[in-house]
Amino acid sequence: LIVVSGTGVISDAVEALRRGAWDYMLKPVEDLTVLSYAIRNALEKVRLKRENSRYQEHLEQMVNDRTKEKIVLEKQLIQAQKMEALGTLAGGIAHDFNNILSALMGFTELCLLELDDPEHPVHRKLKSMLHAENRAKELVSQILTFSRMQEHVLTPVSVSPIVKEALKLLKASLPANIELRQGINAHQQVMADPTRIHQIIMNLCTNAYHAMEENGGLLTVSLTFDQCDEKTSFSHGDLTPGSYLRLTVEDTGAGIPPSILDSIFDPYFSTKGKDKGTGLGLAVVHGIVKSHGGAIHVESRVGKGTAIQVFLPITDDHEAAKDERETVSTGGTERILLVDDEKDLVDIGCLMLVKLGYDVLGVVGSVAALETFKQSPHGFDLVITDLDMPAMNGDRLVQELVRIRPDCRLSCVPGFPSLSIKGARPIWVSVN
Ligand SMILES: Nc1ncnc2c1ncn2[C@@H]1O[C@H](COP(=O)(O)OP(=O)(O)OP(=O)(O)O)[C@@H](O)[C@H]1O
Ligand SMILES: [Mg+2]
Repeated sequence: LIVVSGTGVISDAVEALRRGAWDYMLKPVEDLTVLSYAIRNALEKVRLKRENSRYQEHLEQMVNDRTKEKIVLEKQLIQAQKMEALGTLAGGIAHDFNNILSALMGFTELCLLELDDPEHPVHRKLKSMLHAENRAKELVSQILTFSRMQEHVLTPVSVSPIVKEALKLLKASLPANIELRQGINAHQQVMADPTRIHQIIMNLCTNAYHAMEENGGLLTVSLTFDQCDEKTSFSHGDLTPGSYLRLTVEDTGAGIPPSILDSIFDPYFSTKGKDKGTGLGLAVVHGIVKSHGGAIHVESRVGKGTAIQVFLPITDDHEAAKDERETVSTGGTERILLVDDEKDLVDIGCLMLVKLGYDVLGVVGSVAALETFKQSPHGFDLVITDLDMPAMNGDRLVQELVRIRPDCRLSCVPGFPSLSIKGARPIWVSVN
């Protein structure tokens, strides 16, 4: 505002400037250069004012963004510390409990073996005990996985066949009102334990399935390549720059209320009924992804659905790559001679080893085993023998076998505690 006035009273000029005028001129304005100077001055002032307020807005935006970022990071840090503490605590307990459980299971199994009569009422009770112990073992194993205390071997594996395999399994159990769609568009390898990857997929898909159980919906599982150019934070974990496989499990189910979003990865957190969920599924996923150097991102809207993304770092080690079939198979193909004086144990052992893919010959008794071995000393890659046997004990059998074939590979496994009561025998003897 420039005031141009006919009065030359100084108090009027002061009053005009006080009320906000930027300049005060007397009429008639004879020198136009003065006016144009005043106008240019005023316009420049306007420009500076506008620029200043824009800059202020920009600063405020920056402060807001930074504050939000800081809140997210603080939340992540607290979450990470919480998971770490819970993991250490749960893992420690589970580890000790595992040892106790192993003894319980071992002795229950031995009681079952010693109690020959399957019709005996104690036999049934022992079977129930074993069933409960197996469930406890399963739980302990999940807790150990969550707390990352369970050892696992990481090898370069192709994730896409594991995803396909898992989805094939899942498809069979999905009700008709849930549609499964898959988009496997990445075939890179990651350093991983294949069974753990399988576990991630099954746990996430089971949750998605439960979320849509009532009203049906669409379950989409995809595997894509992702390049991370700068350090990126997700709802659970950060990623350093590099190449990643992104596994997304998305459902159109009930969604997760924001109030519980921070707790879903806690062990034993579950909103499901007692028989339906233990609350370990996502805790296990979290443990696995962490131990594979990955991160997880969760997005959910109540009534709309949930998408959980799992990022796993891609390995460059193509040379060490394994054949796809190898990554999901267990056991081997070698020929094994299995020796025990109990026919039942030979039968069970053979069944188990055949199930693992081995070619097995079961022989009852050490004398018969020695005869079999003599006929074809190079026909076996490994001999597994019981230690405590009549006529010729495992110890002697081992000596005889090594005499026939010095490079023979042997394992001696004592079957019954009577042996340790007699004393002076190691629990597991392995030669070569
Ligand atoms: N896709 C999903 N949609 C809606 N809620 C989910 C989803 N995934 C997880 N949740 C919520 O997170 C909770 C924890 O999940 P988590 O898998 O750890 O345990 P659970 O499924 O309850 O039991 P478990 O997996 O041990 O059988 C669930 O109880 C559920 O409330
Ligand atoms: Mg679950």
